Amino acid sequence: MQFNNFDTTAFLRDYWQKRPLLIKNPWQSWRNPLSPDELAGLACEDHVESRLITQSSDDWNAEHGPLPETRFGELGKSPWTLLVQAVDQHVADVAALIEPFRFIPNWRIDDVMVSFASDGGGVGPHFDHYDVFLIQGLGRRRWQIGGMCDDQTALRSHEDLLLLAEFETAEEWILDPGDMLYIPPGIAHNGVAVGKNCMTYSIGFRSPSRKELIGSWCDDLLPEMTDDDRYCDPDLAHQSNPGEIPATAIDRLHAMVTEKLADRNDFAKWFGEYSSTPKYPETDWRPEEPIETDHLRGLLNADHPLLRNPASRFSFIRESADKLLLFVDGESFPCTGDEIPLAEMLCAQDQFVIDSAWLESDEIVVLLAGLYNRGSLAFDWS
Ligand code: SIN
Ligand code: CO
Repeated sequence: MQFNNFDTTAFLRDYWQKRPLLIKNPWQSWRNPLSPDELAGLACEDHVESRLITQSSDDWNAEHGPLPETRFGELGKSPWTLLVQAVDQHVADVAALIEPFRFIPNWRIDDVMVSFASDGGGVGPHFDHYDVFLIQGLGRRRWQIGGMCDDQTALRSHEDLLLLAEFETAEEWILDPGDMLYIPPGIAHNGVAVGKNCMTYSIGFRSPSRKELIGSWCDDLLPEMTDDDRYCDPDLAHQSNPGEIPATAIDRLHAMVTEKLADRNDFAKWFGEYSSTPKYPETDWRPEEPIETDHLRGLLNADHPLLRNPASRFSFIRESADKLLLFVDGESFPCTGDEIPLAEMLCAQDQFVIDSAWLESDEIVVLLAGLYNRGSLAFDWS
C-alpha cells in the first residue's frame, strides 16, 4: 500500500506535532487489510492485548482480553467497540500499512491498533499523549476534535478509560474507507461509528517522557555503580553554622550526579537499546532450530529473501564515518566495514536479498545468523 496523494514533506513542515489534518483517501487504491472476523479472532488469543468497550446510556465499560469466543454473540443492541493492539505483529498485511509512514523514523513508531465498532460505538472523548494517524478501513466514522489537553485536564472518574469530563467540538468530519485523520498529541478527539462494520486502523507513535527517560536510564545505570564511589571532603573546613549545607558541598554532590548522566555516548547506546526493546518482550519469536552459519550462507547465496520480524525493532546510531551501532530488539551490535551498509539496509527495508559479495564476510554471516536465531529476521517461504 503506497500513498498516491499525500505530500509528506509539507505534512512534516505544517502539521506533524502541530495541528490535526484530514487527508481524504491518499492511497493508490485502498484495500481494507483485515476482516472484522479476523480481528475478533485475535482478541480471543492470550498473547494479544485487546479491550472490549461497551456503552450504556452515557457510560463506558471496559473488559480486557483475551475474550471468550462466545462474548461476541452476547453483545446486545447498545454500541460497543473492540480494540486490538499491535495487530501489525500478527498480520503481515497490517504490518505493511506502516511502510508508507516510514518517513517518520522507526524509533518513533509504536504499533497499529485496530478497532471495530457497532453503529454508534466509540471509546468516548479522550486525548492521547502520542501522535496518531487514524485510517478508516471499512465503514464510516464521525470524528470530532476539540481543544488541547494536558495532565491538568479534568477527566471523568473511570478506572480504565481516560475519558474527558468535558468535550467541546471544534471541528468534525465523517471519514469513508481510505480517509485518514492525523491528530497530534494532546488534542481531544471523539470517534463514533456511523452505520455498521466500522473498522479503524491507528498508526500510533511513541515519544518518551522526561520522567520515563530519567527513571529508565537510572535503572540501567544503578547495577554497575558501586557503594565505594562516595562523597568525600578531605578539605572540610570549619563553618559558622553546622546546620548549613554549604554551596561547595552541593556543587560537589550535584556533580556526582550530573557527571554520570553527562556521558552522551553511554546515553546513546542505552537509548538505542531501550527504544528498540520489543513492545511485548515476553513473546518468544526464536526459530525452533537455531541456524548454522554455513546453512544460512547457502540459503542467502541461493537468493532466499529475508524478512524483518514485524514485532522487531531496528534502528542505528552513527558513531563515526567508519563505525555504527545497530540496535535490534534491545541489543546493540557494533558494525564496521561492510557491516555498515548491511545494517543500514536492515533498518531501511522490511525485506531483502543479501548481496553475495557481503556473504564472503564471516562477520556479516555471524551477525545475520545471530539476528535470525533471536527471531528478529526470518525467511520468507511464501
Ligand atoms: C478507535 O479506533 O476507536 C479509537 C482510536 C483513538 O481514538 O485513539
Ligand atoms: Co485516541
